[in-house]
Amino acid sequence: MSAHLLDVRDLGKRFSRNGRLVTALDGISLTVARGETLALVGPSGSGKSTLGRAILRLIEPDRGEISFEGKNLLGLNSADLRAARARLQMVSQDPQAAFNPRATVARVIDDPLRIHGLGSRTERPAMIARLLERVGLSPDLHRRAVHEISGGQRQRVAIARAIATKPSLIVLDEAVSALDVSVRGDILELLADLQRDENIAYLFISHDLGVVRAVAHRVAIMDAGRIVETGDARTVVADPQSATGKALVAAVPKLRYRAATEKA
Ligand SMILES: Nc1ncnc2c1ncn2[C@@H]1O[C@H](COP(=O)(O)OP(=O)(O)OP(=O)(O)O)[C@@H](O)[C@H]1O
Ligand SMILES: [Mg+2]
Repeated sequence: MSAHLLDVRDLGKRFSRNGRLVTALDGISLTVARGETLALVGPSGSGKSTLGRAILRLIEPDRGEISFEGKNLLGLNSADLRAARARLQMVSQDPQAAFNPRATVARVIDDPLRIHGLGSRTERPAMIARLLERVGLSPDLHRRAVHEISGGQRQRVAIARAIATKPSLIVLDEAVSALDVSVRGDILELLADLQRDENIAYLFISHDLGVVRAVAHRVAIMDAGRIVETGDARTVVADPQSATGKALVAAVPKLRYRAATEKA
């Protein structure tokens, strides 16, 4: 048993595509501590989303182990898996694709409460109002359809839905990538507030090294289904050791400049 919140060991996953096997995860091991943000970066197709989805048990890995809150996630019966799922949530880039766009905001947040048996039918509207306030939205928004609200508001609703079941870990898969810069900053601030208040850990999948440097405690760099480098986020972004890390940083001129001036 692991003392870490999340402990992934030697995870492997291959997909068959057009009769060919694609190795998406090739022996991934990592840990996440309670209240920690681990960023996952890497080129497109390196396996980041597959890793996030495997941890959420949205896909079954071919091999390896995942321990979450001290339990073997891959060996749980369906009742225990359901309980674990309440503690393990996800926010993706496009919540509109994840929700029924015609559903109301209230419905989207009510679903996890109902599924996990949190609150009675009469208690849940007040719970939904509190969750909306917690993510900086007016409770009056609850009647609106998710397709009617702005992208930033929708991402706040996705976060409200994710925290409804009091998770200890949220996988954020490019969760702020589609937002424009000022909205992105507000959402990152909200995520930081929630982490500080609720001690939530984040697996923060991102291609934006500037954001990673600002929000993550540690970073893991993936390439072709493997982790090629891990370390303190600022240190790795300032001075990556792996070829993949160097290439990622070199692709962002501003970061290269900042790393150079900070070293001087
Ligand atoms: N359901 C699937 N069926 C077949 N192949 C898949 C499937 N999901 C992912 N793959 C393949 O697995 C590899 C890893 O994909 P993944 O989506 O995890 O990469 P990623 O790092 O998230 O990329 P991006 O930065 O573009 O989001 C890719 O080669 C991808 O084509
Ligand atoms: Mg992805």
